[in-house]
Amino acid sequence: MERVAPGVYKLALGTLEEHTPVRHRYVAALPSEELCDWPDNLGELFGEERIGFRASDRGCVVELPLEEGEHLFGFGLQMRTIDATGKRLWMRVSDRPDTELGDSHAPVPFYVSTRGYGVLIDTARYATFYLGGLGRLDDRGAVSEPADRAGATSTDELYASRGPAGRRVVVDVPTAQGVDVYLFAGPSLIEAVRRYNLFSGGGCLPPIWGLAMAYRGLNVFGAKETLKVARYLREHDIPCDCWGLEPGWQTRSYSCSFVWHPERFPDPDAFLAQMSEMGYRVNLWEHAFTHPESPLYGPLKPLSGDHRVWQGLVPDLSLPEARRLFAEYHAKEVARPGVASFKLDECDNQTRTQPWSFPELSRFPSGMDGEQMHSLLGPLYQQALLDVYKPSGQRTYGLVRAGHAMAAPLPYVLYSDVYDHRDYVRALMTAGFSGLLWTPEVRDCKSVEELYRRVQTVVFSPLANINAWYLKNPPWLQIDRKRNNADDLMPERDEVEAVIRRLFELRMSLVPYLYSAFAEYRFLGLPPFRHPVMDHPEDPNTYGLEDEFMVGRDLLVAPLFAGEHERKVYLPEGGWYEFHTNQHYEGKQTITVTAGPERIPFFVRAGAILPLAEPVTHITRDTVFRLTCRVYGPGTHFARLFEDDGETDAYERGEYGWVRLDWSQHEGGSASREGHAPMRRYEVVGYELIDAR
Ligand code: GAL
Repeated sequence: MERVAPGVYKLALGTLEEHTPVRHRYVAALPSEELCDWPDNLGELFGEERIGFRASDRGCVVELPLEEGEHLFGFGLQMRTIDATGKRLWMRVSDRPDTELGDSHAPVPFYVSTRGYGVLIDTARYATFYLGGLGRLDDRGAVSEPADRAGATSTDELYASRGPAGRRVVVDVPTAQGVDVYLFAGPSLIEAVRRYNLFSGGGCLPPIWGLAMAYRGLNVFGAKETLKVARYLREHDIPCDCWGLEPGWQTRSYSCSFVWHPERFPDPDAFLAQMSEMGYRVNLWEHAFTHPESPLYGPLKPLSGDHRVWQGLVPDLSLPEARRLFAEYHAKEVARPGVASFKLDECDNQTRTQPWSFPELSRFPSGMDGEQMHSLLGPLYQQALLDVYKPSGQRTYGLVRAGHAMAAPLPYVLYSDVYDHRDYVRALMTAGFSGLLWTPEVRDCKSVEELYRRVQTVVFSPLANINAWYLKNPPWLQIDRKRNNADDLMPERDEVEAVIRRLFELRMSLVPYLYSAFAEYRFLGLPPFRHPVMDHPEDPNTYGLEDEFMVGRDLLVAPLFAGEHERKVYLPEGGWYEFHTNQHYEGKQTITVTAGPERIPFFVRAGAILPLAEPVTHITRDTVFRLTCRVYGPGTHFARLFEDDGETDAYERGEYGWVRLDWSQHEGGSASREGHAPMRRYEVVGYELIDAR
């Protein structure tokens, strides 16, 4: 076992494959000092002898220990499985993640344990994880020999011997003759996650505008229609920073030409200038499949796979030359000033009966096959487009439909075409175990109440996106798709718009808090959105939670779903204050909260200082957030806010600082600055003590 970073160990088993997530990583592991702070418990938990391995014609198998009472979480973005203990999960990339099988836009062969460690199987194969329960013939003691069940009178008795067999994790990796296994020390579950994120290169730090509101217009909108809705948002003071153009901006979109459409956008530069005058950054939809009419087609053809998707090439973006061509073309022709980010669609896979994507049997010039490419296309595609922004030092924050391991530093957020609200919340909760981000984007809705509930969830997510790609008007003017597109707007639209504006403003007031949570993701590997078990692995009451999550260190969000006005919330250890009512609750109990359709229940940790900004409609270079700091509970408290230019990579050269907020009962509040922030982004206008006990 080789120690590759403090608390990170590698075990090379068998004959290794060339194309794996770690080998194709974009960012190097963060300097080791960053990983040093905490004790390393791995030696106590694992010895090499506890890890089994064998290879055969089928592929290879890795076996890892699983103790009584131990619970496992992770496996990337999962919509149906949170506590994975006792289950079987298949790490197959798919655009249908709404199953228990493990299929996902971003399956990640990584898990963490409540015993305080993490395991990464470094493979781009569709590995299957058996997380306990596999009974082998030579297991002693685990299964009782057949007893006489003839006298059984109940189903329980009859099936009594079907209980859990061998306690171990078994990973079946098809095709590969070997894998690297990475082990991440704790000492606690969250430190294992942090080590994994730091080993991936640290979390991403979005530009600050990326944490504001985002909106995407109808797929066939041209400049005229886009400007109309963009103006409406400004005139109605509805916050929005990022505007997304869907497929219609290109001459060909299935597959893509990467050429601006001459009728819809006769003068792209003039259009982009008008958008930026109004304070919008533009995001462009595309996928990597390259249409025969694209100027990139000729150069990319020899660097592509042997199957087409929608007539287009599948460029082998693992090849530096393909990546260079792709990025340079985008930088020159596509990402003109004002284009701040991209939405990378359809880089996952289609696993139903009529596949649109390339088959697993595809061959690529790098030597990859289709299975490996499905796993790695999402990350490779993100890497290619990051190279567009690298020379200018501008940060970007985009959308992507596929991810895999080592993704934490990639500033892209996952989304889906499936649309179940509860699935969306589970995805938000699971993504954080494996260095992923997820947006529960809002589209059309069956009721106004559903719209409110979905918007409430999206404002507490990494990217607050309204994806109106099939709606002519914003969904709050008409929730129904057909009527919306017929301009038949809802009679109560003004009222609905006012509620939506308030929810967007809530998001805007949280931007400084969120930005600082992301800075901790960047430097400390601490996921900004996370399942409560991450902070409380010793509390089994958190294991089964499927609909409440932490945002940063101090907020616990408990979304409601259409048709519900009340719900149960488990509050972990500590004290908590419900944000709207200021009501105080002791932790380690399940409470019932009620909230009308316009409010989402969320709780602030006792001891926190929550800086709330006066909402702005959009963030400019010079925006200074005016903060009211809410102080929760008696005693002395402190909080930190990250401060930098908000949009370039200068922070990587040390151009950033922290604003330290302090509060004590006797002296009141104060703010002080540390570091080298190039500008002042926050002005504290006051402190407000909340303690209704
Ligand atoms: C889908 C994507 C949607 C939207 C649509 C446009 O693949 O998931 O969000 O972009 O394409 O055609």
